Amino acid sequence: MKIIPTSIEPKTAEYIINHTASDDDYLKKIINEMEKNGIRKINITPFEGNIISTLLSAIKPKRGVEIGTLCGYSSLWISKSLDENGKLYTIEKEPKHAEIALKMISELGLEKKIIVMNSDAKEALTKLSKFSPFDFCFIDANKDDYPYYIKWALKNLRSGGLIIAHNPLMKGNLFYEGEDKEQNAKSRGMREFLHIFFTDDKISQRAIIPTSDGIAVGVVK
Ligand SMILES: C[S@@+](CC[C@H](N)C(=O)[O-])C[C@H]1O[C@@H](n2cnc3c(N)ncnc32)[C@H](O)[C@@H]1O
Repeated sequence: MKIIPTSIEPKTAEYIINHTASDDDYLKKIINEMEKNGIRKINITPFEGNIISTLLSAIKPKRGVEIGTLCGYSSLWISKSLDENGKLYTIEKEPKHAEIALKMISELGLEKKIIVMNSDAKEALTKLSKFSPFDFCFIDANKDDYPYYIKWALKNLRSGGLIIAHNPLMKGNLFYEGEDKEQNAKSRGMREFLHIFFTDDKISQRAIIPTSDGIAVGVVK
């Protein structure tokens, strides 16, 4: 018996995707805006957006942090799970990405719900620590700093809060060690992140959901 499905029968896959991965008009608009601006579409998939939003809905989050906004695609999925007065602080270091995200979010009138912080993540997280505890942290930025980000989340989330991280499967490069220095740094970062994720006593439950890039979900004790 296969523990992780490496393929799903096409008709079953289509049926599931049709029911769990539909972008609304605004999510489509963000994708179009990225195309128009020549920005690489390294956003989560709609299938992943729906999983993350479903998981977060279960804890009725009032305040959460996202590291790696890009143009706001995942922020918008996450915002669907927030409590009525809930807030998402989303951090993005690239001014162009942050500008597009803010434009999209403002068009929707969500700028009080989704607060875009145009800053390097470490600086922004230091500022946000003053407002902890948060209900969740979604990590989806530079892989070499994933260990820093999970350590921050372990210190700054409430008991029962969720740490969600994108890309633990690293497109098959998790155990890469070779000539490519940048890839080495990314793979080492993710391995160190996973070591903390799998062994830290402050995480009471953990799972890896094998989407195309993978989603790691940990519950804080
Ligand atoms: C994979 S994309 C995020 C995708 C987004 N979560 C989505 O699904 O729509 C990663 C983003 O993290 C940003 N980033 C990378 N390093 C960062 C850092 N040190 N601080 C803040 N943002 C960073 C990149 O500029 C990029 O926009």
